[in-house]
Amino acid sequence: MGTIKLVRDDITRLRVDVIVNAANSGLMGGGGVDGAIHAAAGPALLEECVRIARGRPGLPACPVGEAVITGAGNLRCKRVVHTVGPVWRGGGRGEAELLASCYRKSLLLAARSFQGEALKTIAFPNISTGIYGYPKAEAAHIAVETVKKTLPEVPELEQLIFVCFDGENYRLYRELLGANF
Ligand code: APR
Repeated sequence: MGTIKLVRDDITRLRVDVIVNAANSGLMGGGGVDGAIHAAAGPALLEECVRIARGRPGLPACPVGEAVITGAGNLRCKRVVHTVGPVWRGGGRGEAELLASCYRKSLLLAARSFQGEALKTIAFPNISTGIYGYPKAEAAHIAVETVKKTLPEVPELEQLIFVCFDGENYRLYRELLGANF
């Protein structure tokens, strides 16, 4: 089963097979990690996202809790999985289940998309904990627990990297993962 690694870095700099983007349901790019990924990938990434959106007229390009996969444009990785986390509204609207779904579906989609070539490494940002306001401690717990439950279903994965951009998330994940990351 793949190992879990924790880094404090900018996800766009990582040389991994897949990076996961914390997108919005329109897939139109935005601020935060979405903005950084699109800026580093270049216009081809947005063009592919627009094509996905146009293929779903009248529907969200990517519903909350779901994931879609694209190429990576000028990024160092091979694919980008775009997932849409829940906006935090107090915890009574299924936010925890939707956030867990983001991690699970992103992992399974990435693995499925690498059939033929082995998916070796995938990097996740701290989904929903920025603009969407999800409390970081709860989000970190959901992320780690969901990934640990899902990893056995992705046996070809060698390493999953949690990428923290801010110090608070990094400290929370370090406490959760212990020293063995
Ligand atoms: N690398 C890794 N992590 C990053 C980077 C980066 N370059 N930039 C920001 N982050 C971190 C933030 O510090 C935060 O912990 O990503 C986490 C998620 O924050 P956001 O990017 O704000 O994403 P989210 O809270 O899921 O909100 C999504 O924001 O950018 C828009 O279009 C996006 O509407 C969507 C919403």
